[in-house]
Amino acid sequence: MKFFVDTAEVSEIEELAATGLLDGVTTNPSLIAKSGRPMLEVVREICGLVDGPVSAEVTATDAEAMLAEGRRLADLAPNVCVKLPLTWDGLKACRQLTRENIQVNVTLCFSAVQALLAAKAGATFISPFVGRLDDIGQDGMQLIADICEVYAQYPMLETEVLVASVRHPVHLLHAAKLGADVATLPPQVLKKLVEHPLTDKGLAGFLADWKKTGQSIL
Ligand code: G3P
Repeated sequence: MKFFVDTAEVSEIEELAATGLLDGVTTNPSLIAKSGRPMLEVVREICGLVDGPVSAEVTATDAEAMLAEGRRLADLAPNVCVKLPLTWDGLKACRQLTRENIQVNVTLCFSAVQALLAAKAGATFISPFVGRLDDIGQDGMQLIADICEVYAQYPMLETEVLVASVRHPVHLLHAAKLGADVATLPPQVLKKLVEHPLTDKGLAGFLADWKKTGQSIL
């Protein structure tokens, strides 16, 4: 399973990229706004920090303008993945950008039939939002199960399931059990994955006992 981080904060990406376990980055207009930085500058900088795909979202709503914005974003770096909303115009733009060998992440997916359309349009990634479905009392993880099941019926579909709007490590666990290809996690959730109180307690015990021996490995 690939781990992406969902942020436009360069310092956080640098810190997580240093682990060697970061496979990509996703941004959206809200995250860019939160960073307070010019979009093109920040996307170019992020692309230099990770080898994997960096999703950068268009803000136009008609297909022609989406294509122009998408091409502009794709020109920034070879690892830019153009993020398009799941609308008819977004799907049209997806089909064309895919033909131009530009990676596309189709976002704001809330149903399995939407995900099927995105796959038919040639999307590299489909981004179902689990947390936002949970927020309105629906079962976000059931959507991941449905998309994985539908895609499995058609092995020729190459679209990867990118679980988005992840709120906690349990979301990641369930997504991994379903075989989702990718999860994009907010930095604080990604950092939490390693944490367990028994790990900390166990390590403290080992180190205390080791100190008593007076030995040193080097
Ligand atoms: O980047 C898309 C998605 O991960 C947004 O998550 O927390 O705003 O629902 P959230």
